[in-house]
Amino acid sequence: MQRILVTGGAGFIGSNFVHYVMEHTDCAVTVLDKLTYAGNRGSLAGLDAGRFSLVVGDICDAALVDSLVAGVDAVVHYAAESHNDNSLADPSPFVQTNLVGTFTLLEAVRRHGTRFHHISTDEVYGDLALDEPERFTEATAYNPSSPYSATKAGSDLLVRAWVRSFGINATISNCSNNYGPYQHVEKFIPRQITNVIDGIRPRLYGAGVNVRDWIHAEDHSSAVLAILQRGAAGETYLIGADGEHNNQDVIQRILTAMGQDPGAYDHVTDRPGHDLRYAIDPTRLRTELGWAPAYADFDAGLAATIAWYREHEAWWRPQKAATEAGYARRGEQVR
Ligand code: NAD
Ligand code: DAU
Repeated sequence: MQRILVTGGAGFIGSNFVHYVMEHTDCAVTVLDKLTYAGNRGSLAGLDAGRFSLVVGDICDAALVDSLVAGVDAVVHYAAESHNDNSLADPSPFVQTNLVGTFTLLEAVRRHGTRFHHISTDEVYGDLALDEPERFTEATAYNPSSPYSATKAGSDLLVRAWVRSFGINATISNCSNNYGPYQHVEKFIPRQITNVIDGIRPRLYGAGVNVRDWIHAEDHSSAVLAILQRGAAGETYLIGADGEHNNQDVIQRILTAMGQDPGAYDHVTDRPGHDLRYAIDPTRLRTELGWAPAYADFDAGLAATIAWYREHEAWWRPQKAATEAGYARRGEQVR
């Protein structure tokens, strides 16, 4: 495998994967990205132009997708509308990109016989109760809650159908919540870090008891590369790093790490349909593919992420005011 097409490679996790592949392999990488509000050329700055190129375009553009897929050995599909709050305000782009876009890619890899890896989320499984020991496994039934997670679930099912009906060579991974560099300031952790930098109190939805299972984006990248290189055709792998924390705990850790009073945050309007808890059982990935995360210490990963946002204000500053204005426009209020 020498030439990889990465869709959504100018977004948060896609750009982390591109940097990881450029550093750890000698593959040539082409990114196909529409550069929506979530895409950023700056996240791909400094890469070796002899081995890397960016094509600005839409994964729903069948002719463009076909021509790009024809020239590569593998496709890693990250492109998506990714933010739950946006999907509640307007589900339409989620249906288009996450479902029609994935369909368009599947038809191209079917025509060309190209290896395909589909990036998905633990949210396809719905949520778990706070007080139960269970975690999601590859056998958990699909039960998505939001328009975002429903379109991701639909895209996973399209991949599974194309494997079974057409025999395409595809794998799927469902990962838990990522944090790290290059994440848009609409998302929980970078929103709070940049709020503190700006002297705004962090904003906790509802009571803040909801649990997310945090993994550093670099660990997600190493897992995806392992699946691409050693995963079994047609299989699904769950990616997680045993990183469960409730939202209140995460905000308090950020405030403490940034030298603030850990109680200096506000409770705000809750998200409608807010999933309670996500938790991944990564046994299969660890035992079958020998994968292990490098970021075992959450506070150390958070400290590195805080340092990155402090040092890269030019990267996030252009989005900050409009993002906060969007939250206010959609009715977020301090309780
Ligand atoms: P992101 O919103 O930061 O990036 C998405 C990228 O896709 C952007 O660069 C955007 O410009 C591009 N894009 C959107 N629509 C497009 C289209 N029609 N054609 C081409 N490009 C398009 O998202 P992210 O957080 O990096 O998530 C990437 C993938 O990982 C998604 O599939 C998401 O479901 C999945 N995922 C995310 C997380 C997480 O914690 N963020 C966890 C598990 C899985
Ligand atoms: O689980 C994987 C998913 O993680 C990915 O599929 C999604 O693409 C990604 O956005 C993320 O979804 P979440 O909805 O969990 O992430 P978000 O960053 O929006 O919120 C994380 C938690 O923090 C969630 O319980 C809502 C809460 N929250 C969020 C924001 C933006 C707050 O309390 N305050 C906030 O300001």
